Amino acid sequence: MINDKMAKALNEQINEELYSSYLYLAMSAWFESQNLPGFAAWMKVQAREEHAHALKFFEFIHECRGRVVLQAIQEPAREWKSPLAAFEAALKHEQHITGRMDKLMNLALAEKDYATAGLLQWFVKEQVEEEASADRIVQMLKMAANAPGALLMLDHQMGERK
Ligand SMILES: [Fe+2]
Ligand SMILES: [Fe+2]
Repeated sequence: MINDKMAKALNEQINEELYSSYLYLAMSAWFESQNLPGFAAWMKVQAREEHAHALKFFEFIHECRGRVVLQAIQEPAREWKSPLAAFEAALKHEQHITGRMDKLMNLALAEKDYATAGLLQWFVKEQVEEEASADRIVQMLKMAANAPGALLMLDHQMGERK
């Protein structure tokens, strides 16, 4: 069983994960408009991963006999100044999600809800990877800024993500 307070907090996280998916899909669409299909494909994979995160919480709440309540998803931005600006926004967003996971973990431990804490441990670890991959791309885009052709090479490389 899951208590109401914890279920409410996990429901809010479903919304955050769906928003993450929506944000990265918006970034994918923007990269398409910039003729960078590799970056667009990478973001589409990322959007799918965030959707899977939402489902992980969705299924967990049901497994614990809680109630899932879906709420409106906020509209994401449409434009970014540059590929670097988009990935800086993605990194900032992941840092925000990491902060949310920490708060959820604090709540789970305060409520002595060790089942939820177990699920959250997976997400805490996942966030380390999420921040690292966004940061790596930010750094590569910074290096590419002064090297003609580097952005296109990077685009090709990004497109290989499955
Ligand atoms: Fe996520
Ligand atoms: Fe993420």
